[in-house]
Amino acid sequence: MNVLVCGGAGYIGAHMAKILFEKGFKVTVFDNLSTGHRDAVKWGDFVQGDLLDQTCLTELFLSNKFTAVMHFSAKSLVGESIANPDIYYMNNVVGTLNLLDAMRKQGINKFVFSSSAAVYGNPVTPLPAKPLPAKPLPVKPLIDESQSLKPINPYGKTKLIVENMLHDYAQAYGLCSVSLRYFNAAGADPDGLIGESHNPETHLIPNILKSVLRSSDRLKVFGNNYETPDGTCIRDYIHVNDLCLAHLKALEFMKTNAGSHFFNLGNQKGFSILEIIRASENVVGKKIPFEYSAPRSGDPPTLVADSSKAKEKLNWEPKHTDLEDIIQTAWNWHLKIG
Ligand SMILES: NC(=O)c1ccc[n+]([C@@H]2O[C@H](COP(=O)([O-])OP(=O)(O)OC[C@H]3O[C@@H](n4cnc5c(N)ncnc54)[C@H](O)[C@@H]3O)[C@@H](O)[C@H]2O)c1
Repeated sequence: MNVLVCGGAGYIGAHMAKILFEKGFKVTVFDNLSTGHRDAVKWGDFVQGDLLDQTCLTELFLSNKFTAVMHFSAKSLVGESIANPDIYYMNNVVGTLNLLDAMRKQGINKFVFSSSAAVYGNPVTPLPAKPLPAKPLPVKPLIDESQSLKPINPYGKTKLIVENMLHDYAQAYGLCSVSLRYFNAAGADPDGLIGESHNPETHLIPNILKSVLRSSDRLKVFGNNYETPDGTCIRDYIHVNDLCLAHLKALEFMKTNAGSHFFNLGNQKGFSILEIIRASENVVGKKIPFEYSAPRSGDPPTLVADSSKAKEKLNWEPKHTDLEDIIQTAWNWHLKIG
């Protein structure tokens, strides 16, 4: 089976290329290296190109016979998407449209899409006034796929638009697709060969670990007045390799299931920022200083997945369920790159 990994020089796509290669798939990575890294492409062939370049896409599909496409390529900074929505709609929506049309011309009809919990928007209540209640607050219900889809920023909207496109392409052209709504990807390749490296880095765990390695990168915690037991945001952290395993399950699923499908991917456990800092302290073996700064707009207090649909339909379950184990894989990578 010959799989095209679009965005395979990026964090999650590079892990996917490694796993596909190790499982015996033929792998081609297509990436414009806008946020990805050439040296993260170690498995399979590499074609440098842009989804907005239709000539390049046509050539790619004419010179390869792909059986399926996995699409990780996107711009994914929420703040940047608010400041420059034009770039986001062009890259994430038009880029995907070009990719789907290039596939269609070659009769390729299996597609796995990196969607996001951002399609749900802000499913919970606004910030309360201080003081926080003395007793722990009730746990918020997990987010399942029946939650309403109300993205609150252009990034999330581009993900929802693509999901809707996939639905329409299934109806009209018989495209078979699986959209995987990731919660917070975390961790790194357990062999230590690749890991997470974004610039700027907006994700919590790499920022914590960078602050340990470089005192100039002092850790900032955005907001301590949320409606959560310790006042900091709660998120669901899922190991990058568990996300990749779900993509393999999606390939299997599409063998017997036509149409467009969507699944949440998370660990079903929420951790506050302070809990992540404490777990990181256990991993790195020292106290991690931090300072509070203003909450970021549009950061919901709690986002935790109900992944039971993926468990039932894709037969997928995360293997990395221990938070410190997830952080340890990331720490091994950060120690290596310094
Ligand atoms: N990292 C997370 O926690 C998370 C959570 C939810 C969803 N996602 C989604 O998962 C996917 C992968 O995320 P990531 O963290 O690996 O991001 P990343 O930025 O590390 O990787 C994206 C890759 O796509 C490439 N790319 C972007 N636009 C392109 C274009 N027009 N043509 C060719 N290549 C292009 C980039 O160069 C990069 O290598 C994205 O679609 C993202 O929105 C990520």
